Amino acid sequence: MAKLEARNICKHFDSIQGGKAQESAISNINLSIKDGEFVCLVGPSGCGKTTFLNILAGLDRPSEGEVMLDGRPVVETGPERIMVFQENALFPWLRVVDNVEFGLKVKGVEKTKRNEIAMQYLEMMQLTKFADAYTYQLSGGMKQRVAIARALAIDPVVLLMDEPFAALDSQTRDLLLVELQLIWARTKKTIVFITHNIIESVCLGDKVIVFTKRPGTIKKEIIVDYRRPRLPEDEGLREYQRTILNELKGEIAAKDL
Ligand SMILES: Nc1ncnc2c1ncn2[C@@H]1O[C@H](COP(=O)(O)OP(=O)(O)OP(=O)(O)O)[C@@H](O)[C@H]1O
Ligand SMILES: [Mg+2]
Repeated sequence: MAKLEARNICKHFDSIQGGKAQESAISNINLSIKDGEFVCLVGPSGCGKTTFLNILAGLDRPSEGEVMLDGRPVVETGPERIMVFQENALFPWLRVVDNVEFGLKVKGVEKTKRNEIAMQYLEMMQLTKFADAYTYQLSGGMKQRVAIARALAIDPVVLLMDEPFAALDSQTRDLLLVELQLIWARTKKTIVFITHNIIESVCLGDKVIVFTKRPGTIKKEIIVDYRRPRLPEDEGLREYQRTILNELKGEIAAKDL
């Protein structure tokens, strides 16, 4: 049985030009994700990737179709599915360490234990020195690493990540590409990860899903059968990159590539 399953998902929004007309953002998405699978979503800007992830998280309802988690329909958010947002969503009034501890506090984990867990993930994200800082004192990439630490600390079964590495410098990103694979291998999480970066998608994904342009639907599923941990510079990943790029070319104007 699939861990997470999208069945015929469609989402219509009111037209942003006004009027009563509704426009489809995504249409007929069918996707079956196995327990412990790492799935990457790529596609042109505006094709509905974030919309789809919000629906998987239960943050938004589909106009048609349904999402199943362990065979049961998803109707709302839950602690077993944690989202890392495209733009960081930290609490500015809390210190970094309190941000990371927040979900654990809600879960009822006692103070010493949750501090220990938070510090462990902050160390992984190389942010130990900033534990007592406030988020306005951090750069964009640092804030994003705090958001990733916070999501991992909660130890969700399903991790939904919306371009979590987009704001990172390339050295930090390469480090986290490996780190995330190690965490995933250790914890057997199911991960759905949106990215615009093809190298990132083949480095991380067991499967890379290519979306069409809006209204987004699945164009192609590419299985990346390659040893782990993978490094961005691995020659063996080049062929997968080319395949994905070719699929995307038809969907993205040349100027966007
Ligand atoms: N609340 C909303 N009301 C109206 N239209 C919306 C709403 N949210 C998203 N859209 C539209 O739906 C489409 C898909 O948006 P979405 O944010 O899911 O794209 P995306 O694939 O994540 O893009 P990007 O790669 O740029 O993040 C866009 O055309 C967007 O304008
Ligand atoms: Mg998006």
